[in-house]
Amino acid sequence: MSHEPSRYDFTNKPADYAALASELKGLLAGEHDLIANAANATALIYGALPDINWCGVYLLKGGELVVGPFQGKPACVRIALGKGVCGTAAARRETIVVPDVHEFPGHIACDAASRSEIVIPLLTGREVLGVLDLDSPTPARFDAEDRRGLEALAAIFLASLGP
Ligand code: SME
Repeated sequence: MSHEPSRYDFTNKPADYAALASELKGLLAGEHDLIANAANATALIYGALPDINWCGVYLLKGGELVVGPFQGKPACVRIALGKGVCGTAAARRETIVVPDVHEFPGHIACDAASRSEIVIPLLTGREVLGVLDLDSPTPARFDAEDRRGLEALAAIFLASLGP
């Protein structure tokens, strides 16, 4: 199978996130493997969103987050629950948008170029599977529409894993 991601300019974020959501559903259709779908989902998102320098998942294993499929520079491997933006989003089970990473106490810097970040928890019911993490070199890159759009993409990824 070949798949060429579309390029979006995100001048109309709701429309472009909706188109990207359709694309992601098609890309993951018929496959339930966690690593395969995380790899393809993060590659699609990284290629489609402008102004992103890291996009990947951390997966909860043995009580801590361990880096999974991603695009961008090599990242820190293990993050304890409650630590950094990722561990905080996982512990709280809620999305965290950080307009300026230098202002987030305990932010873990993997790529010095990162200035803003969004982390979306990946939940199956109340159980934490992991998080979806995106970094940008631009301060305040992620707004409420990005949050909505990325939460919808995370939900499509989770649904692809099956019941
Ligand atoms: N900044 C994250 C660490 C992961 S990297 O951004 C890829 C954090 O504070 O949890």
